[in-house]
Amino acid sequence: MKLAVYPGSFDPFTNGHLEVVETAAKLFDKVVVAILVNPDKRPLFSTDERLSLIAAATHHIQNVTVDHFEGLLVDYVRKVGARVIVRGLREPADYENEVKLAHMNRSLEPSAITVFLPTHPGLSYVSSSLVKQVASYGGNVEPYVPTVIAKALRQKYQKPE
Ligand code: PNS
Repeated sequence: MKLAVYPGSFDPFTNGHLEVVETAAKLFDKVVVAILVNPDKRPLFSTDERLSLIAAATHHIQNVTVDHFEGLLVDYVRKVGARVIVRGLREPADYENEVKLAHMNRSLEPSAITVFLPTHPGLSYVSSSLVKQVASYGGNVEPYVPTVIAKALRQKYQKPE
């Protein structure tokens, strides 16, 4: 079985991430969306919130599951028995950092091969940080994130009456 791990912070999960998952799900037998738990960062959405939001946003794709990990990605990849790491590329500049990450991961675990998937050109400017910025000023984020996540963002930034 070809198992792929799609790691990231996903704070929040965007339509760009969703498109990468949908494409990966067609290429591999099973895809695990793996949320990085970084104790040094204070994410907008807790790990549990991200787990349930991503599960809801990917509910329509049968061979996708959602999990979380702490520490080195290659340790997680080994633990679940995957050989493939999926990363999305939004623009050429992404490649520079991503290829360094891929080489380090391959050096740490030679069997872990990173596969890059270009995101849909129409979503190249959509990032989690910009989406949070738009939502924090009350802008409409419906075009950039799954509906369930747009709703969760509205709730996070709702001003008390
Ligand atoms: O999409 P993101 O949020 O930039 O994801 C980055 C991620 C989670 C893929 C990367 O930071 C990661 O794998 N972190 C875990 C620590 C690790 O294994 N780093 C790579 C080797 S130093």
